Amino acid sequence: MPRILILYSTVDGHTRRICDRIREGCAAPGNEVVLCAVDEAASHDVAAFETIVIGASIRYGKHRQNVYDFIARHRPLLETRASAFFTVNIVARKAHKNRPETNPYLQKFLRQTAWRPRLVEVFAGKLDYPKYGWIDRQMIRLIMKITGGPTDPSTVIDYTDWAAVDDLARRVCAL
Ligand SMILES: Cc1cc2nc3c(=O)[nH]c(=O)nc-3n(C[C@H](O)[C@H](O)[C@H](O)COP(=O)(O)O)c2cc1C
Repeated sequence: MPRILILYSTVDGHTRRICDRIREGCAAPGNEVVLCAVDEAASHDVAAFETIVIGASIRYGKHRQNVYDFIARHRPLLETRASAFFTVNIVARKAHKNRPETNPYLQKFLRQTAWRPRLVEVFAGKLDYPKYGWIDRQMIRLIMKITGGPTDPSTVIDYTDWAAVDDLARRVCAL
């Protein structure tokens, strides 16, 4: 029975939603698919999964340390498993930055780790000004102003290409 572990690193929950959609896409009779926060991966026997997927969002230019810690701890195992990594960020709303080869955060990630997942992907994330605290809202508005994005503080936009998420789920199942 194929076992797939999907791990997420999120702050506002959007990456978890993407991982949940991948879980739905991989759910098939006979498949066991487990969704879990990367911080809680230790509560599972990671070695029991044939496929491991990690999704992580960007905040102020970085993936969180918990992602790098998990990879460092499980590197030898990850090398022997089918694996996928995707990053979620708002820069990827731009057509020329939404591919693994063109997204600066995915490229930086690949420079920072020796792990080479079989699949890498990039998804544009969600802009949700009302949800942010005051400082974060002002910071993101400033970044949006510089990069030509929406600055109205009531803006909520989901930039994620959900068809592309479904496509990644299909590719994960085919690994
Ligand atoms: C405080 C804050 C900082 C962010 N910093 C960046 C950034 O540096 N670059 C970027 O492309 N997106 C940035 N984003 C956008 C997030 O990556 C995007 O909203 C994503 O959907 C968040 O996913 P999560 O809910 O799983 O954490 C930032 C968002 C917030 C709220």
